[in-house]
Amino acid sequence: MPNQPLPAEMLAKGRSHHVTVQPGQTLLEAGLAAEVPMAFSCTMGGCGTCRSKLLDGRVKHKQPNCLTDEEAAEGYVLPCVSRPLEAVVLAVGG
Ligand code: FES
Repeated sequence: MPNQPLPAEMLAKGRSHHVTVQPGQTLLEAGLAAEVPMAFSCTMGGCGTCRSKLLDGRVKHKQPNCLTDEEAAEGYVLPCVSRPLEAVVLAVGG
């Protein structure tokens, strides 16, 4: 896991938010801390409410989670259980 803060660009409701993800933080935690409008419910990878599309970069995704193999193959992630491995661009809500 990266031990330094990483940049994340989050596209939400027609706006681009530049967020810093601290080591150990999930994309959801970092986004909410920066007041990005992100939907969530369970915060543990079980409901899919936070599902978003990763447009660039890589994340480490806690397993198991409720994404189907097809969703994962299409680039969807669950921000509540995803931590960036490098700079990422995320379309919040997909
Ligand atoms: S909030 Fe439930 S899967 Fe992310």
